[in-house]
Amino acid sequence: MFTCIFDETHIRMLEIEAILQKYQNRDRENLLPLLLEIQREIGHLSQKVILSVAAHLKIPSSKVYAVASFYDQFRFQPKSKYRILICNGTGCHIEGARQLLEEFNKQLGVENPADNRKELFNIEMVQCLGACGSAPVVKVNDVFYTNVNIDMIPEIIAAIKAKEEI
Ligand code: FES
Repeated sequence: MFTCIFDETHIRMLEIEAILQKYQNRDRENLLPLLLEIQREIGHLSQKVILSVAAHLKIPSSKVYAVASFYDQFRFQPKSKYRILICNGTGCHIEGARQLLEEFNKQLGVENPADNRKELFNIEMVQCLGACGSAPVVKVNDVFYTNVNIDMIPEIIAAIKAKEEI
């Protein structure tokens, strides 16, 4: 009987290493293409990915994270069925984005905001979603919610649950 001696994490790291090896010249301009390719393969940018890319390109991991977090298309957690993006751009930040995050975490039962991975949803703070005039803004997959306040959160969650018949 065949027994796999590598766990999934190890296999993923081998995949990441194979992608890094394609970018031998370690040019900083490779940062975005590298992140895109890794996310295409792995599905998200984990902490290990950020650290590996930083080491490969010889740049600080904070720089890699800053660049990746600027773009809406990068995920830092495995993909869930519903991706709840809370805009934390300047306009939304001023209008209470942080309180929205806390309320979503509370209502969805996420005790530790740093560990909000669920099969059904991810909650992420992202940079400007491009609707600053209607701040604060929340996006659930392709649906935009504008001028969001805490009282609207049960309605947003109910719309997700209705689709799932929870
Ligand atoms: S700052 Fe939130 S949409 Fe622009």
